[in-house]
Amino acid sequence: MSVKGNSTLLVTGASGQLGSRVVELLLEAQVEPGRIIAATRTPEKLDRFSQQGISVRYASFDDHDSMLKAFAGADRLLLISTDTVGAADYRLNQHRGAVKAAEEAGVKHILYTSIVEATPTSAVILTADHYGTEQAMAESKMGYTALRNNIYADLQVFSLARAIQMGQLFSAAGEGKAAYVTREDCARVAAVTLADEFEGRRKFDVTGPEALSQADLAALASQISGKPVSYIPLPVEALIEGMVSAGLPRPAAEVYASFDVAIARGEFSKVSNTVESLTGRPPIRMADLLAAHREQLLGVTAG
Ligand SMILES: NC(=O)c1ccc[n+]([C@@H]2O[C@H](COP(=O)([O-])OP(=O)(O)OC[C@H]3O[C@@H](n4cnc5c(N)ncnc54)[C@H](OP(=O)(O)O)[C@@H]3O)[C@@H](O)[C@H]2O)c1
Repeated sequence: MSVKGNSTLLVTGASGQLGSRVVELLLEAQVEPGRIIAATRTPEKLDRFSQQGISVRYASFDDHDSMLKAFAGADRLLLISTDTVGAADYRLNQHRGAVKAAEEAGVKHILYTSIVEATPTSAVILTADHYGTEQAMAESKMGYTALRNNIYADLQVFSLARAIQMGQLFSAAGEGKAAYVTREDCARVAAVTLADEFEGRRKFDVTGPEALSQADLAALASQISGKPVSYIPLPVEALIEGMVSAGLPRPAAEVYASFDVAIARGEFSKVSNTVESLTGRPPIRMADLLAAHREQLLGVTAG
């Protein structure tokens, strides 16, 4: 990753998996630590960054004053979407508040971890938050970058571990495909675009290198484990009932199932060249990610 300019770069949610990796990548790219601000609700978890000269500051999207203080002096800000998924519009209001605070604090360019197909018609229940946040950025006076991430490939390790254990992969995605992308590639794209001094407005689809169906995933799980794994397509209602009877609260089951419906509709199938064109490195393939997590995939079987 090449670094230009001398803007002060801020990452919110800096103790999360994506946020902390973005900060590490900035350091690896030789961005001076004095130009980096790591904002988080848990500064005590980021001693390793403060010891390297990074300014670690408390900020919560639920506390406007904390954001104004933490964002002061930042030129470019990466807004990482929160994991607070629940009450209607709660997360969207958190993000709207963060966009407003960034503008008030004098941030010139804001970047946001959105989702592919961030439109009001998406089948994914959570997409309304991403669409609304993109709207808030567009209505601000700041330049912005929407990083429209596909589904994390990393999450498939958990579902495929279970599928290997059961010999069956259940999904309501039908024959639909998704261009799953690793969290690592999302972090690399976020770090590059945070540091690149671009001043206008842009959107990127951040995807993996290939679109895979559930049958493809079952075949990969089978190959890596050496055990048979069949894909069992289910109607969405049956998938939701299955998750609820396994103990998942119904609203959470409906959110998960909405991803399957969107995959079936083709919302996640587009493959982009964003990762390679921005980072200079091809995106990680699902087969390679799964091979790197072979023990975790098989661990469930052993347990
Ligand atoms: N593309 C996908 O498939 C996919 C999958 C899962 C999640 N996501 C989204 O991508 C985000 C980053 O992923 P991840 O893997 O890094 O998730 P993660 O490790 O669970 O991190 C959750 C993030 O939410 C932040 N957060 C929670 N409440 C907040 C608040 N009140 N104010 C400010 N920040 C708050 C946390 O920041 P601090 O703890 O540092 O304050 C942390 O960065 C997630 O939060 C979620 O919105 C995308």
